[in-house]
Amino acid sequence: MKILVTGAAGFIGFHTASRLLERGDEVVGFDSVNDYYDVDIKERRLEKLHALSTETGTPFHFIRENLADQKQ
Ligand SMILES: NC(=O)c1ccc[n+]([C@@H]2O[C@H](COP(=O)([O-])OP(=O)(O)OC[C@H]3O[C@@H](n4cnc5c(N)ncnc54)[C@H](O)[C@@H]3O)[C@@H](O)[C@H]2O)c1
Repeated sequence: MKILVTGAAGFIGFHTASRLLERGDEVVGFDSVNDYYDVDIKERRLEKLHALSTETGTPFHFIRENLADQKQ
């Protein structure tokens, strides 16, 4: 199954995406990587998700956008 995880660089989104990749579900992560707290923590989570994808052979795609942005 292909699953969209919003807030994938955040605490809950990262752990959710990790479990999904581990069980073999393709993940599309979506996150603006905002600076509400240390951005380095979020970047390291994204690196871990890409590494987990390589390790498991399950695809992980990441979209760095703001959900609130609307193209007119
Ligand atoms: N952590 C908890 O224990 C807990 C408990 C109950 C509810 N929640 C709720 O669950 C949600 C996630 O919590 P968390 O702890 O993972 O927070 P978090 O701040 O670690 O993660 C949220 C992620 O969403 C991203 N984000 C925010 N607005 C965005 C937007 N407009 N477009 C794209 N990305 C955006 C941020 O960059 C961040 O990486 C929050 O709504 C929180 O209130 C969390």
